[in-house]
Amino acid sequence: MNIHLKTKFCGVLFSTPLVSLSGIVVDISGNTRLAKFKGIGGITTKSASILPREGHPIPRIASFGAGYLNNVGLRNPGIDKSVKELIELKKTTKKPIIASIVGFQLQELPILAQKIAAAKPEFIELNLSCPNVDDEAGKPIASDPLLSAIAVSEVKKVVKNIPIIAKLTPNVVDIKKVAYEVEEAGVDAISAINTVGPGMLIDFKRRRAVLGSRVGGVSGAAIKPVALRCVNDIYKTVKVPILGMGGIETGRDALEMIMAGATLVGVGSAIYKGGQQVFDKIFSEMQELCQEEKIGSLKKIRGII
Ligand SMILES: Cc1cc2nc3c(=O)[nH]c(=O)nc-3n(C[C@H](O)[C@H](O)[C@H](O)COP(=O)(O)O)c2cc1C
Repeated sequence: MNIHLKTKFCGVLFSTPLVSLSGIVVDISGNTRLAKFKGIGGITTKSASILPREGHPIPRIASFGAGYLNNVGLRNPGIDKSVKELIELKKTTKKPIIASIVGFQLQELPILAQKIAAAKPEFIELNLSCPNVDDEAGKPIASDPLLSAIAVSEVKKVVKNIPIIAKLTPNVVDIKKVAYEVEEAGVDAISAINTVGPGMLIDFKRRRAVLGSRVGGVSGAAIKPVALRCVNDIYKTVKVPILGMGGIETGRDALEMIMAGATLVGVGSAIYKGGQQVFDKIFSEMQELCQEEKIGSLKKIRGII
């Protein structure tokens, strides 16, 4: 008999602990198809910004065997179209939706949050990992614990009835500080990690960088050790639940992420290799491993490290 693995996250029930991540499947038809897989518990939408964004020069994504390098440049249709798309998507699935938003200035976040809240997603995820144009160095909001806290409290002032998730970057000296400050500011949950880097790949024959924008964020299997460490650091620092992600490709990876402290587990780059059915594969591997290892409930292993 298979154990069910249903998971509650901020009071919302997920049929499985596996969710898709922001930026990999971006259109409604893709997400509608994705939501039909029994292994997937929820969907995260592409980060929406105030204005539409074309993104960076192509190629925007490249594989290097152990993972991927991308600099899509937050290509998205802008918040107004994203709200309409979210309303459409919600008509096609009852699975919880995590709506991602991204601001280039702090004050954009409450505006974006209020707009996306109108489409009634189950969660709003603040992608705090893009460069903040208010900062002279263009550092991501999430690289500064206090700015991250302000971002959360400004959003919490305007959105009261939808749980807010802060998505953190691993590219900081101490992710625990950022996690602590966003929890103090009232965040409902934390997701981690966004891509690692930036990194660069070189096209040896053509003597140039592979990506059109030279550098990009690293994702996929190569970043799993960084992701597990970050999630474990966060788990040991805060009480709010964690959506853990970074390099998850197998059921064993997902259970390790839960051992590090995650409640939900995100799957992104693995879709490139395994297709959308990768969610069913990971889910059945989790069930088999739980049976083999006599893990009757995920609570028993959560944060065990
Ligand atoms: C092509 C691509 C686009 C992405 N776009 C976004 C995005 O719009 N917003 C965001 O918060 N994260 C974005 N990410 C980061 C992922 O959501 C995820 O945090 C990261 O890739 C680690 O998970 P993975 O190793 O399973 O892919 C993107 C990643 C990739 C590969």
